[in-house]
Amino acid sequence: MNYRHLGRTGWKVSDISFGAWAIGGAWGHVSEEDALATLHKAVDAGVNFIDTADVYGDGRSERLVAQLRKARKEEIVVATKAGRRLPRQTIEGYSRENLTAWIDDSLRNLSTDALDLLQLHCPPTELYDRPEVFAMLDDFVRAGKIRYYGVSVQKVEEALKAIEFPNVQTVQIIFNCFRQRPADVFFAAAKQKKVGILARVPLASGLLTGKLRADSAFAADDHRNFNRHGEAFDVGETFSGVDYKLGLEAVEDIRRLLPAGATMSQFALRWILMFDAVSCAIPGGKRPEQVADNCNASDQLPLPPEIMAQVERIYSQKIRPLVHQRW
Ligand SMILES: NC(=O)c1ccc[n+]([C@@H]2O[C@H](COP(=O)([O-])OP(=O)(O)OC[C@H]3O[C@@H](n4cnc5c(N)ncnc54)[C@H](OP(=O)(O)O)[C@@H]3O)[C@@H](O)[C@H]2O)c1
Repeated sequence: MNYRHLGRTGWKVSDISFGAWAIGGAWGHVSEEDALATLHKAVDAGVNFIDTADVYGDGRSERLVAQLRKARKEEIVVATKAGRRLPRQTIEGYSRENLTAWIDDSLRNLSTDALDLLQLHCPPTELYDRPEVFAMLDDFVRAGKIRYYGVSVQKVEEALKAIEFPNVQTVQIIFNCFRQRPADVFFAAAKQKKVGILARVPLASGLLTGKLRADSAFAADDHRNFNRHGEAFDVGETFSGVDYKLGLEAVEDIRRLLPAGATMSQFALRWILMFDAVSCAIPGGKRPEQVADNCNASDQLPLPPEIMAQVERIYSQKIRPLVHQRW
């Protein structure tokens, strides 16, 4: 496992880290035993950074991460999120009172006195016009309830606005072979300001693992079933917003580029790590074998320029017209 600086925080995080949404909920049933075995496997493989949120399984994901931290001696940095407990996203919802309640809940779930990194969880775009919200986050840092804060965003333009606030340490954004705009528009600015970047949905919700088929079935409580067209939340969070059939076709094009011995997941993650502005990718996983597969990407050889160019070509031909300007 290799490690990279997380912005200006002083932490060096595993370039393949772990996203703890699926072990919380909205991805079909994952038993507590499987969830914990998956988390332990991640730490065994050198993962020292975990992304979770208060709403993943209504605190379940955070509580599982707390169990992991209790059981392990290694330092594990945990990023959580706040804001999605609002029944409807409004700027007024990001009040001091609500933020205090969400932070206190996460502190309890994570069994800790201070949150390592609190991210606003895809708030409305207009929130970035409100310095008073970021001033409140500064107050929480001063009070010792959070060590650092960052944002999780849907759009590149939100990311650019967010890093105008000097104490935003990290931006979490969808970045993968099917979502390339952040590299064009955002990465240079983030690097210049030494803001950490967490690449989320790195496997396009499993599409880029190469295992999915036209007839793959998903449980009723898996967002790949219930949010395929954005019925419950932003469609960009499910398969990166790529039409499923088209995504499968593009995956077959990418499969032809695999170096000998690499899995599709490793290739997709290695592609992300080719961008040095990225601090880490945070693939989700439900089973230890998946985590082991993904973590191996860290030690894969860099992809040659001609392979990078071919991924760009596949993206430009098949995916770009549908997603590039949307997020
Ligand atoms: N708004 C936000 O802030 C937001 C939104 C989305 C995600 N996130 C964060 O980003 C993290 C990663 O994104 P994601 O979990 O949505 O999607 P992802 O990492 O692209 O896909 C994860 C899923 O792919 C499958 N998988 C993973 N590794 C595999 C492997 N090696 N072989 C085969 N299948 C594999 C697993 O599901 P199956 O086994 O069921 O196929 C796993 O749950 C999340 O966990 C969360 O922490 C944040």
